[in-house]
Amino acid sequence: MPYVNTLELVREAEKHGYAVPAINIVDPLTIGAIVRAADEVGSPVILQTSVKTVKSAGADVLYAAVRQAADKASVGVSLHLDHCPDREVITLCVEKGWSSVLFDASNRDLETARRETAEVVEECHAAGVTVESEIENILGVEDGVGSDEATHAYTVDQLIEVATETGTDMLAPALGTAHGQYKAEPVLVPARVKEIKDKLDIPVVLHGGTGLTDAQFHEFIDQGVSKINISTALKHAYMKSALAYLRECEAADKWEPVKLFAEVEKASEAVLREFAEIFRSAGKDGNR
Ligand code: 13P
Repeated sequence: MPYVNTLELVREAEKHGYAVPAINIVDPLTIGAIVRAADEVGSPVILQTSVKTVKSAGADVLYAAVRQAADKASVGVSLHLDHCPDREVITLCVEKGWSSVLFDASNRDLETARRETAEVVEECHAAGVTVESEIENILGVEDGVGSDEATHAYTVDQLIEVATETGTDMLAPALGTAHGQYKAEPVLVPARVKEIKDKLDIPVVLHGGTGLTDAQFHEFIDQGVSKINISTALKHAYMKSALAYLRECEAADKWEPVKLFAEVEKASEAVLREFAEIFRSAGKDGNR
């Protein structure tokens, strides 16, 4: 069954020097398109839902669509809850069958973040769900979660101490990236990835993928990043392909929703193909 745990996918990526594309889908249309493209290029894929997407589409609809797409695929597919500071939404997704969650405690002080992350890890592990932890804030607001200001920043030793104590499975540290489009050239710290991994054998996740260059991605992967998050690029592909088609509809005064869905699917598939090539995950997983 190609519906797998996120940790399995990222551990495999670490072994073979690539990163798994973790794409924030927004509805069943994008779920189908991303999995189909991943299957075509032989790349494992992590489908991510923001809290906003869970609330808009509904957990049952999203989970059913992911399982349906994954069951037809020959590559590993997992379902991850992205940036979630809300414990109730974590419990909901754990109960519904998500593979992993990002407990975003970056809005808590260090002691609260440590205590609550340990509680979330206990709850998730009891259900076989793995946990990504964020206690430093990654800049930018994504689907209503996060901040444009750096509020919590810690040393690598502090990050490692909390990750070890809480038993978290994956770590999302601040690496100089930001969510959304870059307004200025980011000051990236890829060396921090290796510094963490030299001290603790834990998968490191890169957020804020949209807008980085191929060379910047490769440097992060070479330092040990094995999961890279992409959201804004898919949103743009979705909305711009829809807009272009709607303009055609307007010019011709002919309105065909099914053709609109096809345009959005085509644009979404192209996003997965592009990043699977850059992240070197294409061709790595086709034999399940
Ligand atoms: P972008 O929106 O910059 O692609 O970042 C995605 C992300 O990190 C989701 O957690």
